[in-house]
Amino acid sequence: MIRFDAVEVRYPNGTVGLDGITLDIPDGQFVVVVGLSGAGKSTLIRTVNGLVPVSGGSLLVDGTELRGAGRRELRALRARVGMIFQSFNLVARTTVMQNVLIGRLHATGFWRSLFGIPKPEDTERAFRALERVGIVEKAYTRASQLSGGQQQRVAIARVLAQEPAVLLADEPVASLDPPTANLVMRDLQRINRELGITTIVNLHFLDLARTYGDRIIGMRAGRVVFDGGAEDATDEVFERIYGRSLTAGDVLPAGEPGA
Ligand SMILES: Nc1ncnc2c1ncn2[C@@H]1O[C@H](COP(=O)(O)OP(=O)(O)OP(=O)(O)O)[C@@H](O)[C@H]1O
Ligand SMILES: [Mg+2]
Repeated sequence: MIRFDAVEVRYPNGTVGLDGITLDIPDGQFVVVVGLSGAGKSTLIRTVNGLVPVSGGSLLVDGTELRGAGRRELRALRARVGMIFQSFNLVARTTVMQNVLIGRLHATGFWRSLFGIPKPEDTERAFRALERVGIVEKAYTRASQLSGGQQQRVAIARVLAQEPAVLLADEPVASLDPPTANLVMRDLQRINRELGITTIVNLHFLDLARTYGDRIIGMRAGRVVFDGGAEDATDEVFERIYGRSLTAGDVLPAGEPGA
């Protein structure tokens, strides 16, 4: 369970990132966050793993209070909260397997990590994670040799190997072509349903938000301006969230899967 109670974020330069967010996200929910650039979507996601400190209110994630949390609490929390990014953030020079094993570092002793010797059960976990995203045959390929969609699947596998309670995804499909974006969103949805990992995804495209979100949260200027099911998120609602008329750029163009 994630509980935001009047959460405020003020950046060191004085910019208000979140302006009083109150939300409950139950375990296992698939939440999509939408809003214009600068609305506070990334800030919201990053408070959940403590990347951005909370300056007011209270934020409970899996039993940990983030406001004023110390380094040790943050480290323990981050082991349970996985994150994927628009830019995949893989180590390009090394293999898919080694990238996925990074997800196990939090549970690996100092000497083992220093010498890069994985525990056999971690290698097993990494294979299972790669199977879940359908690229186990790439285990010993260098990350730099994969397509964007494949790289994002490796990033998802890395998070899965971590066995998190919560998965955060900040614009995970923004660098992908539309069909590949759908494939990756489908992976995230399937993982959410099969493993019950609470998932929060920031998305730009409203059709993706409607297709994959159990719940859609609309943000504007650091506040929640819509909170409802995909069926309630009509075009009018999106126009209200965005504060403007919809354009062709707000939906994903159609196309064939490239993966
Ligand atoms: N490190 C930072 N320092 C100062 N201000 C910041 C910082 N990061 C974000 N902001 C500001 O906080 C507000 C919310 O930014 P945020 O990145 O959360 O928006 P976003 O909805 O993710 O936008 P985008 O769609 O462009 O990614 C913006 O006004 C932004 O300029
Ligand atoms: Mg952002």
